[in-house]
Amino acid sequence: MSTTSELTRLREFLNELIPSEDQLVRLYQNFCAQIRKGLGSKTNKDASTKCYLTYVQDFPTGNETGKYLALDLGGSKFRVLLIHLKGDSEAEQITKIYDLTERELHSTGVELFDYIAKCLHEFVCEQKVDNEHMPLGFTFSFPCVQTGLSRATLVRWTKGFNCSDTVGEDIGLMLKAAIARRPGLRIDMVAILNDTTGTQMSCAHRNPSCHIGLIVGTGCNACYTEKVENCERLDSKYKDKPKIIINVEWGAFGEKGGVDHLFTDYDRNVDQNSINRGSQIFEKMVSGMYMGELVRLILLRAVNENLVFAQCKLRKHITDILTKKPHCIETKVLSDIANDRGDDWPLVKDVFKQVFNLNNADPDDCMKFKFICDVVVKRSGNMIGVTLSGLVNKVGESFSVIGVDGTVYRCHPNFDGYMRETLDRFVDKDYKYDMMLSEDGSGRGAALVAAVVHRDYMERKSLNAKLRQ
Ligand code: BGC
Repeated sequence: MSTTSELTRLREFLNELIPSEDQLVRLYQNFCAQIRKGLGSKTNKDASTKCYLTYVQDFPTGNETGKYLALDLGGSKFRVLLIHLKGDSEAEQITKIYDLTERELHSTGVELFDYIAKCLHEFVCEQKVDNEHMPLGFTFSFPCVQTGLSRATLVRWTKGFNCSDTVGEDIGLMLKAAIARRPGLRIDMVAILNDTTGTQMSCAHRNPSCHIGLIVGTGCNACYTEKVENCERLDSKYKDKPKIIINVEWGAFGEKGGVDHLFTDYDRNVDQNSINRGSQIFEKMVSGMYMGELVRLILLRAVNENLVFAQCKLRKHITDILTKKPHCIETKVLSDIANDRGDDWPLVKDVFKQVFNLNNADPDDCMKFKFICDVVVKRSGNMIGVTLSGLVNKVGESFSVIGVDGTVYRCHPNFDGYMRETLDRFVDKDYKYDMMLSEDGSGRGAALVAAVVHRDYMERKSLNAKLRQ
C-alpha cells in the first residue's frame, strides 16, 4: 500500500498541472482580451485567436429538405457523405470513410485534392447519384481566411497535416479544379466550413438556442454567433443580416503568451517536438493529439523521481520505453482507463501489458497512473470550460446551448463534468448554458449549410423575379 506521504509527494509533483483559481481567472481574462483583439480590424493582426468570419449568417429552421453531398477533411480519416434532409429536424445519411495515409497527409495539394475528387467520384457512382447535379458542403477543419462562403484561403495546417503548395491557396478553388479534372463529375461546391461551424449548425437544427460549436478531438476549437455590429472586419454588404458565425480558432491561443502562466516543461517538450513549433499552443495543452504524449512525459519524470514503479522489476525497461518511444501512450488510453473503478485495475493493467509488456502491475502503480492521466484530462476540461465561458458571456443570451463533438468529449466519461466545473464558475450568473452532443456535425452540418445557402439563393431569386414583374 502506498503511504500517505508517497501520495502527497505525487500530488505535489503534479501540482503545476492543477490550475489554481487565480490562474484560471487570468486565463479567462487573457482569452477575452484576445477575442476582443481578434474581432477588431486594427488589432486583428496582433491577436492569437483570429476570429475568422465564416459568412454563415443563416441558421437552420429544422424544415430543410433535399439531398446534399458533404466532404469532411480534418482528422485522420476523410469522409464522403450523402445526406437526405427530411424536414422536422430529421435526416438520413450514408457515409463512406476513406483512409488518409502518410502519403496523402504529406503530398502536394494537387495530389491531395485529386485523391479527394477520385473518392467523391467513386462515391456518387456507387450511390447512383452521379447524374444529379447536387450541392456539396465541404467541412475543412483548418484555419482559413474566408472571403465568402465558398472561398477559403488556407492559413496553416494543423494536427499533423503538411501538404505542400496549399498554404496561401484558395481551398475552394483547389477542390473545384480537381472536380473539373475528372470528366463526368458534376458537383456544385457551395460552401466551405469548419467542423465547429458544422457542429453548431447540426445542433441548431434541433435546438435554435445553439449559439456555440465546440470540438475536442484530435484538435480543439470553437465558434460562436456574433452580432454583425461587433464584426469590424465584415464588409457592410453582409450587414443586412443581424448575425454571423465566428470561427475563433482558439487552438492558436497562447501564441502571444496568453497561457504562459500555465505552461509547464512537459508542454514545452510537446511543442518543441511537434512539426509546428510555437503554433497551436492552447491546442497542444488540451487536445487529443497531444494529451497521451503529455502523460508519457509526466510518467517518465515520475518514474525517474521514484514516484511510480519504484519497486517494479521492469523499472529500467519501462524507463527505456518511455524515453525511446514518443507517442507510446495514446490519448484513447486516458478515456479507457477512466472507466476502471480500481477493483483489481483490469483496464490499467491491460494498458501496462500493451505498452510495457508488464504483467500483474502493482495496484498502487495502477492508481498513480490513473491519477496522472486524470490530472492531464482535468486540466484540459477545466481550461476549455474557462474559454467556453468567455464565449457564453460574449454571446450574451439568457440561454445558450453549446453543441459539442470530438473523440475526447465523446469517449472520456468525465470530460463533460470537468468543463462544467469551470463553466459553472465563470459563466455570468444572468446566463444559463447547456451542452448538447452533436449528431455528426461535420457531415450533417455541411449539408445544412449547403441547404441554407440554397434556400437563401432561391429566396433572392424569387424576390428578384417579383421585382422585375
Ligand atoms: C483546427 C481547427 C479545427 C480543430 C478541430 C484545429 O487544429 O485548426 O480549424 O476546428 O482543429 O478539428
